Amino acid sequence: MIELIDRLSDNEILTKEELIRLIDNRSAETAEYLFERARRARHKFYDNKVYIRGLIELTNYCKNDCFYCGIRKSNTAADRYRLDKEQILECCRTGYSLGFRTFVLQGGEDGYYNDTVLIDIISSIRALYPDCAITLSLGERSYDSYLAYFRAGADRYLLRHETANPEHYKRLHPPSLSLKNRKRCLYNLKEIGYQVGTGFMVGSPYQTGEHLAEDLLFIRELQPQMVGIGPYIPHKDTPFAHHKAGTLELTLFMVGLLRLILPNALIPATTALGTIDPKGRELGILAGANVVMPNLSPVSVRNKYSLYDNKICTGDEAAECRVCLEKRINSIGYRIVVDRGDFIEK
Ligand code: 5AD
Ligand code: FES
Repeated sequence: MIELIDRLSDNEILTKEELIRLIDNRSAETAEYLFERARRARHKFYDNKVYIRGLIELTNYCKNDCFYCGIRKSNTAADRYRLDKEQILECCRTGYSLGFRTFVLQGGEDGYYNDTVLIDIISSIRALYPDCAITLSLGERSYDSYLAYFRAGADRYLLRHETANPEHYKRLHPPSLSLKNRKRCLYNLKEIGYQVGTGFMVGSPYQTGEHLAEDLLFIRELQPQMVGIGPYIPHKDTPFAHHKAGTLELTLFMVGLLRLILPNALIPATTALGTIDPKGRELGILAGANVVMPNLSPVSVRNKYSLYDNKICTGDEAAECRVCLEKRINSIGYRIVVDRGDFIEK
């Protein structure tokens, strides 16, 4: 195992079989060795800096019906909301004063936010905050829409591939969604010039070590600038309510592997990681992550953007989260920086 980790940290390309072997035979000792290597790789590019992204959850309406997700359209128990432009700009105002220089507009696939509405929102943020990055996380759209948002001022786009195995993809999604279209979107975004983020859930129902190896191979092929991964966590009003959550241990191991495969990537310690363990985000950073994405959404809608159960920070004002995060990150010898935090080329 140690030999495989050494080869990964020397930028060698491992085969699928070798990756499966690493994942399936991991132990506490190999994990510690991996994290140490991952931290070394991350320090080379990013030192002990942690970048913060202000997450604004625009809408929990969604036309999709992913089996794992709490805001799927068939969930009639979800209390739906949308933020209008003024509310979004207010979130940016608060965020800017707290030191955020990236705003992430995330939401379900909601037809209300058509190109006209979105271009207006993006160009307003761009005009008011020329020194900030605008990241979109709004699902699958056409090439022309992605291009229009880019021209309006968006810099980055997050779209997790969820799983790189087509059969596994079918078990997590209804027939209207395909891995092929997901990948088409990701390649379109890259071609347009966005900094692109992808990612997957760890421990999602029916996932195997082989699937995780395929996720790593796909990521190596795509070469995204950002990769977000977090444990799968059940939501009580979904078809997967009774599937068990992914583990902290496996998620951290995957963060470490990702860091070695993409040494200069932006990798968040996700809210889902912080939800399955009180120290999840700190441990994520110690396993190689270098980004955190606290919530800037108005507290009145926080608990409605519920993709999974027991999400943390839903009752806390943005300013409280900011202070809390600073303490957490300082406690492990890292520091938050006020900066756009762009991808650093090798
Ligand atoms: N558990 C963990 N992550 C989830 N996501 C959606 N539902 C869940 C869940 N139940 C993740 C997906 C999506 C991102 C916004 O949230 O990976 O891309
Ligand atoms: Fe939100 Fe700690 S980060 S309360």
